[in-house]
Amino acid sequence: MGNLHIEGAASCNKQFSPRSQDRRRWIWKCLLGSNKQIAVKRLKTMTAKAEMEFAVEVEVLGRVRHKNLLGLRGFYAGGDERLIVYDFMPNQSLLTHLHGHLSSNCLLDWPKRINIAIGAAEGLAYLHHEANPHIIHRDIKASNVLLDLEFQAKVADFGFAKLIPEGVSHLTTRVKGTLGYLAPEYAMWGKVSESCDVYSFGILLLEIVSAKKPIEKLPGGVKRDIVQWVTPYFQKGAFNHIADSKLKGKFDLDQLKSVVMIALRCTDGSPEKRPSMAEVVDWLKGAAGKRRREVTPSLSLGNGDDEVDDDDYGEITPYQSKLKMASTDSDRHKRR
Ligand SMILES: Nc1ncnc2c1ncn2[C@@H]1O[C@H](COP(=O)(O)OP(=O)(O)OP(=O)(O)O)[C@@H](O)[C@H]1O
Ligand SMILES: [Mg+2]
Repeated sequence: MGNLHIEGAASCNKQFSPRSQDRRRWIWKCLLGSNKQIAVKRLKTMTAKAEMEFAVEVEVLGRVRHKNLLGLRGFYAGGDERLIVYDFMPNQSLLTHLHGHLSSNCLLDWPKRINIAIGAAEGLAYLHHEANPHIIHRDIKASNVLLDLEFQAKVADFGFAKLIPEGVSHLTTRVKGTLGYLAPEYAMWGKVSESCDVYSFGILLLEIVSAKKPIEKLPGGVKRDIVQWVTPYFQKGAFNHIADSKLKGKFDLDQLKSVVMIALRCTDGSPEKRPSMAEVVDWLKGAAGKRRREVTPSLSLGNGDDEVDDDDYGEITPYQSKLKMASTDSDRHKRR
């Protein structure tokens, strides 16, 4: 890939700034002469860390091409200037819709949410299973899932990604990523493998269906993570309490149950018990494909207000038989 040459850039507006405190970069929205929009990430200050993230992102994005990964258009590295050019995503990020300034508009109806979950899962499955060498993203979160004009998910921000050499099951590294999404074995011991992304994806799934933040501050300053929040509702079968109230009850109950169960499998405290992203894609597609289905969690569902009679369930598909809940509260590592 050659260096970037933006010809005929009609205008560039500083449009988005990162949420993180360090503010080491800007994302600019640029309009090309042809009326095409692009997004340009510009490093604000050149530090060794920022330069490393720039190099990793260019290296990784230059290797991959998938409908659910943000497309790289080019880059520029000269003097103290570092720029990366991407496809522009007009519908911004999942974060904007779940917690940000577009959340009150509720543009994400239930089918869109399921579709975004499947798309993001497919992008990750591609990184884990098809890219060569395999790639671990390490920063899966709502602000790094961007949405195109049709609300298709595009996984973005590869500055923390790790290329995994053939035959290596895990690496030990310095912990990067975002609190609330970090797998316990990674947060505590820096042990990184594909299953760390699976854990983060499980948190993201819960966030997509509930619009809850991964970590919530309770009165008195105590922090509660989204898995701790969802588990009692899940056990009681109180699924209406789990669904984002902005959906106003317009969601498919059986799909919601399946998605929560998949999320809880993904966030199992033991990395070896988590599914692969290929399985997650399969399960999500299975959940989206059928309205009525049976899943067999080992976490018992109580007599909650949302319980469905056995008679309501349809036939058991192969994916459903794999969907058994392994995790319980006691299984889980104590979270932060
Ligand atoms: N290609 C793009 N098209 C449109 N908007 C984008 C694009 N890339 C990024 N953005 C917007 O810019 C915002 C800032 O992105 P950036 O990755 O710098 O920070 P962040 O993801 O919000 O936080 P963090 O620093 O934790 O990564 C994103 O949340 C998104 O709304
Ligand atoms: Mg980001």
